Amino acid sequence: MTDKVPVITIDGPVGAGKGAIAQRLAERLGFHLLDSGALYRVLAVAAAKEDIRDDDADALGSLAGKLVVRFEPSGDPDEPLDVILDEQEVTQAIRTNEAGEMASRISPLTEVRMGLRDLQRSFRRSPGLVADGRDMGTVVFADAVLKIYLTASAEVRAERRYKQLKHKDIGVSLHALLESIRERDERDMQRAVAPLRPADDAFTLDSTDLDIDAVLAQVMNLVRQRGIID
Ligand code: DC
Repeated sequence: MTDKVPVITIDGPVGAGKGAIAQRLAERLGFHLLDSGALYRVLAVAAAKEDIRDDDADALGSLAGKLVVRFEPSGDPDEPLDVILDEQEVTQAIRTNEAGEMASRISPLTEVRMGLRDLQRSFRRSPGLVADGRDMGTVVFADAVLKIYLTASAEVRAERRYKQLKHKDIGVSLHALLESIRERDERDMQRAVAPLRPADDAFTLDSTDLDIDAVLAQVMNLVRQRGIID
């Protein structure tokens, strides 16, 4: 009966604010939360630990199918969930720019996407799920009741990431971040398997000039219109 459990998907490029919106929306609705990007990042970190190269599709695919990952509340609604891999906390390790880069490099591999698919779908539990990522609405939860595509200009996204990383004392230049965001967009959108694009039935929201509260208000309107809540 898991088909009946409602899923709301939030897809879009890096830094558009998907994570912050997904977390607040899940909290408002009392739904579970899946940060699918974190799973790609966890796989990247786990592979690096085991000296698996980022082009070894078979080894990466089989590692993806074996990952034991848990999310726990961080205690701070402005921070993403804590991530536990094999009983070891990897919350910080997966958020570095390097881990994001490697996640982006391994994510085009079919073996990796297939390996992570069941794990992602296992998060669909009553009373509902908010899932954020790149292909939540197009592939993993194609039957989602509401699909949002959240975007913003590359400059604004680079600035947001810069502030987040600076806040965590992770040093990186704004210019380098903008370059890396542009490269990652290109890779995420151009890959042959599950490229980043809005689902045909997705609502596109542009957060370039909107803060989190304004975006959340628009999403909540859509949630009501869809009858997900009264
Ligand atoms: O959202 P993020 O920056 O944490 O994601 C890291 C990388 O993982 C991103 O560059 C592309 C990949 N990814 C993906 O291919 N599919 C998803 N559903 C989520 C992330």
